[in-house]
Amino acid sequence: MNIRCETLPDYIVIAEVNTLAFGQENEAKLVQEIRHSDRYIPELSLVAEVENVVVGHILFSYIDLVGEETLQVIGLAPLAVHPQFQKQGIGSALIKAGLEIADAKREAIVIVLGHPHFYTRFGFQPSVIYEIKSSFPVPEDVFMVKPLQNYQKKYKGKVIYPAAFDGV
Ligand SMILES: CC(C)(COP(=O)(O)OP(=O)(O)OC[C@H]1O[C@@H](n2cnc3c(N)ncnc32)[C@H](O)[C@@H]1OP(=O)(O)O)[C@@H](O)C(=O)NCCC(=O)NCCS
Repeated sequence: MNIRCETLPDYIVIAEVNTLAFGQENEAKLVQEIRHSDRYIPELSLVAEVENVVVGHILFSYIDLVGEETLQVIGLAPLAVHPQFQKQGIGSALIKAGLEIADAKREAIVIVLGHPHFYTRFGFQPSVIYEIKSSFPVPEDVFMVKPLQNYQKKYKGKVIYPAAFDGV
């Protein structure tokens, strides 16, 4: 398996992988919308290839954390692995690769809404521990954050997702 940044020729297969993994087109559309917005971080849209075929994709993009000031933080979404390639470590490898890049970029914190059983193994913890709240009702254990090396205490408040996320 090889992990690398997405390039333009990957866009169609990335949409296919997202649609197959989620069983709907909403996440594929989300990826496209973010790509065309100022929230897009080119080096943090990653694909996983097996024998030169893209079978997984992860997107990290900027979202707002609104407290005393509004800070840009990183949101992890969506993550998709082709159904025939799940449970082989590909999703985990994409998360680890993305977290390393975010850390190297001196980003402070990564936010995810997902399964605690899966994400806690990468160091994600319930956001309430860091006084970070969701802007919509969600169980505490599924709204998680991973502080990176550049984390500082000022990173607290309410997470506001761009309108592109309204469709998922
Ligand atoms: C979730 C997903 C990205 C994981 O990718 P993967 O390559 O299968 O993951 P890995 O092989 O690295 O890790 C397997 C782990 O995935 C987790 N997992 C996979 N699907 C899951 C699901 N539907 N619910 C909860 N956990 C799930 C399990 O915790 C499993 O852990 P285990 O090792 O204890 O069995 C993949 O299953 C997928 O694309 N699912 C559909 C889309 C989706 O739900 N995306 C995540 C949104 S938060």
